[in-house]
Amino acid sequence: MNSWYCAPGSRERTVDRSAGDAFAFHGTLPGYAPTPLVPVPALAAELGVGDVLVKDESTRLGLSAFKVLGASWACRQVLEQRPGSTLVTATDGNHGRAVARMAAHFGVEAIVFVPEVMLPETAARIAEEGATVVRVAGDYDTAVRRAADFAGAQPDRALVQDTAWDGYEQVPAWIVEGYQTLLVEVDAQLERPADLVAVPVGVGSLAEAVVRHYRRPGYAHHPRVLSVEPDTAACVLASLTADRPVRVSTAATVMAGLNCGTVSTSAWPVLRQGCDAAVAVSDDEALRAVDDLGQLGVSSGPSGAATLAGVRAALNDVARRTALDLDDDAVVVLLSTEGNTR
Ligand SMILES: Cc1ncc(COP(=O)(O)O)c(C=O)c1O
Repeated sequence: MNSWYCAPGSRERTVDRSAGDAFAFHGTLPGYAPTPLVPVPALAAELGVGDVLVKDESTRLGLSAFKVLGASWACRQVLEQRPGSTLVTATDGNHGRAVARMAAHFGVEAIVFVPEVMLPETAARIAEEGATVVRVAGDYDTAVRRAADFAGAQPDRALVQDTAWDGYEQVPAWIVEGYQTLLVEVDAQLERPADLVAVPVGVGSLAEAVVRHYRRPGYAHHPRVLSVEPDTAACVLASLTADRPVRVSTAATVMAGLNCGTVSTSAWPVLRQGCDAAVAVSDDEALRAVDDLGQLGVSSGPSGAATLAGVRAALNDVARRTALDLDDDAVVVLLSTEGNTR
């Protein structure tokens, strides 16, 4: 399979940014604080760029991943429209835990569908938040369909899913708005604007937020956006290469949060428009990145550290580096979207 895609013209384009005020809402949540943006000079030296900064999401709002930014804003919006609803979702880990946490925060029930490959400790962490966990015989995509059917069967159930499909777009749009808080923080933390932002990609909603943020009208400095996926679940890479949404079959990977075979229908046109490059990485490469970041003082799980593996795969290859057109002084931002919980 192809493990690299690059369309250098993408960063000249402009994409509308979502309008919602998730950032102000996040500031009202107990324990909100911007997560650190950590300079890692050793990685800058290794990669031959000016600065490497790692956005460390390992402590986001008392959870160990960025996902609660989207889940919190979407749950709040859903419950404002449909107070008292039971919140239903499917997850490969972090999103379900975040929805469960927010259900408890807002005093409603949560029912979370999980794929059969989910590690027992991951399912236990969701249950500990007070949610009912339903294990589905099948993969993540199957769990999403089960959750949607279950939610649709009763009017007092509301689906809070972090991926869009035809006819289900409003909640994923709120989730993308929620993710933009992370990027607003990065902008305030950077001394020089980013030249490359590496994003770990499952269904592509976080990458959609990144593209919408950095390609927004009126924002002059357009960094390259690099999508990073497991080589066993590279649906965005396959879709960009084919220039149409391509569903891929998936297999177990240590990058559990990225183990998705279908790109979000809302993310797809945005990524097609404004994502410069996509790369697929192996489990071994992701695990090496986990270790390396750990030794450099950043707690990062495989789905988060995938961005380091992806940037290595992109910049250590002369043809890829040339296609990205990065100079030696470039500012590279790695989104490390989860802490190392193992
Ligand atoms: C830790 C982590 N990073 C990245 C992602 C990818 O986000 P998306 O599915 O929006 O592409 C996920 C998704 O669950 C995740 O849990």
